[in-house]
Amino acid sequence: METTALPGGTWTLGDLTVTRFGYGAMQLAGPWVMGPPADHDGALAVLRAAVELGITHIDTSDAYGPHITNRLIREALHPYPGALHIVTKVGANRDPQGGWPPARDPQSLRRAVQANLDNLGLEVLDLVNLRLGNAEGPRAGSLAEAFGTLAELQGQGLIRHLGLSNATPEQVAEAQAIAPIVCVQNMYNLAYRHDDGLVDALAGQGVAYVPFFPLGGFSPLQSSALSAVAARLEATPMAVALAWLLRRSPNILLIPGTSSVAHLRENAAGAGLSLSDDDRAELDKIGG
Ligand SMILES: NC(=O)c1ccc[n+]([C@@H]2O[C@H](COP(=O)([O-])OP(=O)(O)OC[C@H]3O[C@@H](n4cnc5c(N)ncnc54)[C@H](OP(=O)(O)O)[C@@H]3O)[C@@H](O)[C@H]2O)c1
Repeated sequence: METTALPGGTWTLGDLTVTRFGYGAMQLAGPWVMGPPADHDGALAVLRAAVELGITHIDTSDAYGPHITNRLIREALHPYPGALHIVTKVGANRDPQGGWPPARDPQSLRRAVQANLDNLGLEVLDLVNLRLGNAEGPRAGSLAEAFGTLAELQGQGLIRHLGLSNATPEQVAEAQAIAPIVCVQNMYNLAYRHDDGLVDALAGQGVAYVPFFPLGGFSPLQSSALSAVAARLEATPMAVALAWLLRRSPNILLIPGTSSVAHLRENAAGAGLSLSDDDRAELDKIGG
C-alpha cells in the first residue's frame, strides 16, 4: 500500500492504487459544463495543484465542455506522472442546449472511447465508467449491449478497468455477470443517501463507491444540522460533508469538484476533520 499525506489514505481500483481523496474535473469547463472556462490559466493551475497535493485520482469525461476538460487535463499534466490515474465516463453526448442525451449504442461508445484517448493523449484509458440513466438519475433497463461493447474494447487493450455510473443495483449485478467492475459512481452525499445499501454491498465485494455531487453539486448542501456540527467544530460545512463521507465506508472515494485552487486546498485539508461518534450520529440523521 502506498502512503499519502491526504486524508483517507489509498484504495486499489483493480491493480491501480489511488488516493481516496481525488478530484472531479467537471467544474473546469464553462457554465453548465459547456464551453471553455472564463479563466483558462486558472483551470490549469487547479489541475497542477491537485497533483502537487498528491492526488492520484482525477475524474473526467469527454462530455465536459464537450472535449474542453480533457484537453485542459492534457495541457496541464501531460506527460502524466506514473502514479496519476484518470477515470473517464462514456454513454452521454451533449446537445447544443447543454443537455446530456444518452449515447450508448456500440458505435457511439467506440467513438467516445477514441475521443477520450485522443483528447487526453493516452494509448490506454485506466478506467472507463459506463454512464447509465439520465439527468434525473438511474433508470431500470438492460446494459448488456453497451457494457458488452466496453468489455470488448477492454479486451482489445484500450481500457484497463471498467465501472458504472448512475446505475441501479440490478444493473451492477448484470454488469458483473459480463465483466468485473472496480467502481460505481452514483449521486450520494450526507443528505442524499438512496444508495446506502449499495455502498455497503460494494464494500463487501471490495468494489469502490465514488459519490458524485459529494458537496451537493450545483446546489450546495444546506442543512441546519450540518451547519450546527460545522459551527461546533469551527469547520466549514464542506469539510464536514467530506469528512463524513470518508468515515462512512472505506470503499468511498472522494471526487469533489472545484474550479478554485483555494477551495481544492481547503477541501483536501477539510476532509481530514475528525468527527466524534456524537457528531456522526447527528449527521447521520440528516439523510435518514
Ligand atoms: N457520473 C455522473 O453522472 C456525474 C455527474 C456529476 C458530477 N460527476 C463528477 O463528480 C464530480 C463532483 O461533482 P460536482 O463537481 O458536480 O459537485 P460537488 O463536488 O458536489 O460540488 C462542486 C461545487 O462546490 C463548490 N465548492 C467546492 N469546494 C468548495 C469550497 N471549499 N467552498 C465553497 N464552494 C466549494 C464548487 O464551486 P467552486 O468551483 O467555486 O469551488 C462547485 O460549485 C464532478 O467534478 C464530476 O467529475 C459525475
